[in-house]
Amino acid sequence: MTNSPTRPVALITGASRGIGRAIALRLAAAHDLVLVARDGEHLASVARDCEASGARVQTLALDVRDGQATVAALTGLHVDVLVNNAGVAVMKPFLEMTAEEWNRQVDVNVNALYHVTQALLPGMVQRGRGHVCIIGSTAGRNTFVGGTCYTGTKHFVMGFAESLMLEVRDAGVGVSVITPGSVATELFPEGTNTTWMLEPANIADAVAFAVTAPPHMLVHRLEVRPLSPKRPRSSF
Ligand SMILES: NC(=O)c1ccc[n+]([C@@H]2O[C@H](COP(=O)([O-])OP(=O)(O)OC[C@H]3O[C@@H](n4cnc5c(N)ncnc54)[C@H](OP(=O)(O)O)[C@@H]3O)[C@@H](O)[C@H]2O)c1
Repeated sequence: MTNSPTRPVALITGASRGIGRAIALRLAAAHDLVLVARDGEHLASVARDCEASGARVQTLALDVRDGQATVAALTGLHVDVLVNNAGVAVMKPFLEMTAEEWNRQVDVNVNALYHVTQALLPGMVQRGRGHVCIIGSTAGRNTFVGGTCYTGTKHFVMGFAESLMLEVRDAGVGVSVITPGSVATELFPEGTNTTWMLEPANIADAVAFAVTAPPHMLVHRLEVRPLSPKRPRSSF
């Protein structure tokens, strides 16, 4: 895909599966797409599904922890909607957490926000329009045993998103943070009962609502939760 848009262009990180894949499929009806994740094969498969909805799709197999590679790949791209979705979770007691597990969460959930947003926000500010949407979590307001690092990173997201919103809204750029409760994805370890959880498409609907709001309206924070937590849908 040449990056000269006829439709608005949405770039989604973590688009190879889960919530990011669902966001790509949801936005494909009205946007061209740039899909980012490490797994190029999965990205190609998501791209084919999005193209079936009429989107032009570019895939970038990229580790967003690598600041230099991220800036090199993204700088200069015309992107109207950035969805910072890539994230990792290692839920375990602090005293059992390795430095690698700690750093991986901070690098993907926090530091990648810097690399990706620094590369794409200047173009939005220059054009006087654009939207940065970040997938936070209810873990950005709550705490739980086993969540020292993950909830810390998601609390960071809340502060980052609101401060950035205040900095760029006068330039015509919106910033939204979507805060899901539990969603049935591979974020949870294999064997987790996910039957009661939200589906990734539910979060994609919330993202679409935020990024397609009228130009004078900003949906800054949107929380989406399962209505009947812990109750398997099959028991209805
Ligand atoms: N599931 C939930 O209950 C839930 C609730 C609230 C918020 N969230 C948030 O929603 C977002 C998406 O999570 P999910 O549930 O969809 O998880 P998931 O199914 O595990 O997907 C995570 C995505 O992030 C990508 N990713 C991970 N590390 C990456 C890296 N270093 N570079 C580039 N991409 C990377 C993965 O792609 P590759 O492996 O191909 O790189 C994958 O596409 C996260 O920010 C998460 O914190 C999830």
